[in-house]
Amino acid sequence: MKSIMEQISGRMKEAFSAAGYDPKYGEVKVSDRPDLCEYQCNGAMAAAKAYHKAPFQIADDVVAQLNGETDGFTAEAVRPGFINIRTGGAFLAAYLEEMAADPHFSVPQETEPKKIVIDYGGPNVAKPLHVGHLRAAVIGESVKRITRAVGNDVLGDVHLGDWGLQMGLIITELKHRRGDLAYFREGASEFPEEAPFTISELEEIYPAASARSKEDEAYKAEAMEATHLLQMGHPGYTALWNQILAVSVADLKRNYERLNVTFDLWKSESDAQPYIPALVEDLKARGIARYDDGALVVDVSEETDKKEIPPCIVLKSDGASLYSTTDIATIVERMKLFAPDEIIYVVDKRQAMHFVQVFRTVRKAGIVKPETELVHVGFGTMNGRDGKPFKTRDGGVMRLEILLDEIVEEMTKKIRDNKNVRAEDARRTAELVSVAAVKYGDLSNQAAKDYVFDTDKFTSFEGNTGPYILYTIVRVKSILGKAEAADAAAAEEKGTLLAPASDAEKALMLDIAGLGQAVYGAYEELAPHRICAYVYQLANDLNRFYHETKILSEEDAVRRISYLRLLSLARRAMELCIDLLGFEAPEHM
Ligand code: ARG
Repeated sequence: MKSIMEQISGRMKEAFSAAGYDPKYGEVKVSDRPDLCEYQCNGAMAAAKAYHKAPFQIADDVVAQLNGETDGFTAEAVRPGFINIRTGGAFLAAYLEEMAADPHFSVPQETEPKKIVIDYGGPNVAKPLHVGHLRAAVIGESVKRITRAVGNDVLGDVHLGDWGLQMGLIITELKHRRGDLAYFREGASEFPEEAPFTISELEEIYPAASARSKEDEAYKAEAMEATHLLQMGHPGYTALWNQILAVSVADLKRNYERLNVTFDLWKSESDAQPYIPALVEDLKARGIARYDDGALVVDVSEETDKKEIPPCIVLKSDGASLYSTTDIATIVERMKLFAPDEIIYVVDKRQAMHFVQVFRTVRKAGIVKPETELVHVGFGTMNGRDGKPFKTRDGGVMRLEILLDEIVEEMTKKIRDNKNVRAEDARRTAELVSVAAVKYGDLSNQAAKDYVFDTDKFTSFEGNTGPYILYTIVRVKSILGKAEAADAAAAEEKGTLLAPASDAEKALMLDIAGLGQAVYGAYEELAPHRICAYVYQLANDLNRFYHETKILSEEDAVRRISYLRLLSLARRAMELCIDLLGFEAPEHM
């Protein structure tokens, strides 16, 4: 369906045309001055130059072509040449009815849907998920849902970090501790079915190994050798690696599930390794790569660069591949398996240079088509209240699970105190509200900016927070639940919306009407914070309407049912938004 802005623009263009001007000047936008009008058209200002006329004259000519409310809106020419637009109540009500009947609830659908791979999450095997991984998961999940909502064919890939020195370190540490295990026996080919460690042991092993390798040269050399042997297919190490992966993935899935984050693909860095030999040969054969001090590199600097972009290293001088090689090979693999039109990486912005180098290399080598879009959505750091990267109270790395547990604990108390939820549901409700608190706290900021993780603020039921949004939804559900069954059914099924009876009601209707634009805008900018800003405004206007209006006690049944219908549309809009943000509302809270 056409958005409300397109509908108004359409009529405006006719008016420009009828007044003898190019219809292209009839484009309308949401008003910059909500105190004066709801939408505005600045076309007369631009047309003035082309027609050598005063802008106000043009605005006046155009407005003279319009017929007031029968067009659905009233337009007024104001100096120096703006056209201020106010929607008519009947038009607005009819637009919301059109939305209600639209299968996509007015969210615009791409006429040429794209195949998109979103690379997000990026956890590393055998390392606990810590808060640094939170943003990748939370932002990536929302970007995935938003790109999907407008009709694209989207695959989310976790792109597990399961390759490189970290694996050699774990193998080496295990060998030092449990050298008797079959994996380390020369010539062994049978290995235990069960992993010789639990996830908590694994998570203790990696930091220990990493610390030791920094002090002990011989140990580090051993780990590098183990990495090399693993990469050459050593049977014992391969068996061990598979078990590390299995134990780790099971734990990751549990953590992501708690956050309402799901991946379509659980592919990993190791999956790209088979593509590397042919890739390297090809880059060499076609002269795209050159040797520099023993390393194989691809020059990617361009004349227009403002700062230096160093060559992309494909192989180190010892012949080993590295992070960039894996990312290039992963693109080779993705093109082969999925042929995406676009790949979006939701990764820490400190990796921006890495992605510039990788993207330029694959373009130069023709690994992607010229029109294939490669996008890095870089996010900033999550800091503690002291402005430094978030840590535990004793200064350690904060595990995501522990952080969530602490918040759920607090939230459970809060919810018990509110007494709106049955005791046995308090914990489950607290989980839902906590996930909303954490995700909304993150997503309401522009992704590229650093932000302060402030537990007290994020968990508050007031202000621009996840719990406030949920609270508003729960409130609407409760009013709808309290409405007489007959009223509720009438509102839901065959009720019709009346034109708004108050400013508060009109504001709420205008918000709902803006849903499609908000979602499409968030998609164009890959910016979940736009959904947050939209849903916050909607929640505020909804609460205002609720406070100013007698809904259930309204005597005029037709009006009462119209109110209920409006509330149920508002609820739908809010629920659609929180789904795009990746969380859910409880029944009570
Ligand atoms: N595992 C990486 C890290 O922890 C993130 C991976 C991001 N994705 C990618 N295709 N490079 O830094």
